[in-house]
Amino acid sequence: MNVLKFDSESSWIDCVCSLWRDRLVTNPGLTLCLPSGTTPVGIYAALSRSATAGLVSFARASVFALDEFGGLAPDDPGRTRHTLQRQLIDAVDLPPSAFHFLDPDAPDTHRHCGDYDDAIGDGFDLVLLGIGLNGHLGMNEPGSPLDSPTRRVDLHGTTVQSSARYFAHQNLPTWGLTVGLKAVMASKEVWLLANGEAKAGIIEQTVRGDISPANPASLLRRHPNCSLLVDAAAGVLL
Ligand code: PGA
Repeated sequence: MNVLKFDSESSWIDCVCSLWRDRLVTNPGLTLCLPSGTTPVGIYAALSRSATAGLVSFARASVFALDEFGGLAPDDPGRTRHTLQRQLIDAVDLPPSAFHFLDPDAPDTHRHCGDYDDAIGDGFDLVLLGIGLNGHLGMNEPGSPLDSPTRRVDLHGTTVQSSARYFAHQNLPTWGLTVGLKAVMASKEVWLLANGEAKAGIIEQTVRGDISPANPASLLRRHPNCSLLVDAAAGVLL
């Protein structure tokens, strides 16, 4: 795992966006897996500005949402699909058919997840990931196996509680659908992103602790092309 630590949040955002623009220029057909959450908000805003300025194009790219919350109204603005749509997709020239997302209300969840894995194929060109305070990746909570497929999962209690900031109501989701670790590990490149001091402890454990399913993010140390990109606050213990 390459560790890239930046001295400010703005230089962290600038670097991630610059690398991302570069990946799209060198491979316009880039297949991406993207998270929602608070971590990428500034990155998506900066990349949206690049797209508006004509500096980057998603015209031949494809985007897969990393996960989706279950048990919410279809139009709940906190759902991953809507968050990504608002924060990035609406601002870029991605063809609508190239935005893939998980539907927790699909009549046959197992089949729907299998179809998502079929569409993903042999992994993504690039996966962006946030990290949970317990090391979860997407909704791959501690204990998730390395070969896990896209599937329905129950969220840990701490994950449910910390999701409160995504919603304007108290009906917090207790389950969801997530791309599995298998597709993440099969992808050509993975960027694990973290900002802010709250992530400092789990980032230190991820880099220095045991490689174990108890901390799913630590498993990324087994990936051949994974970079950890952190701002100074999240990387303060490294
Ligand atoms: P955050 O969430 O980006 O909102 O901190 C990350 C996560 O829990 O996966």
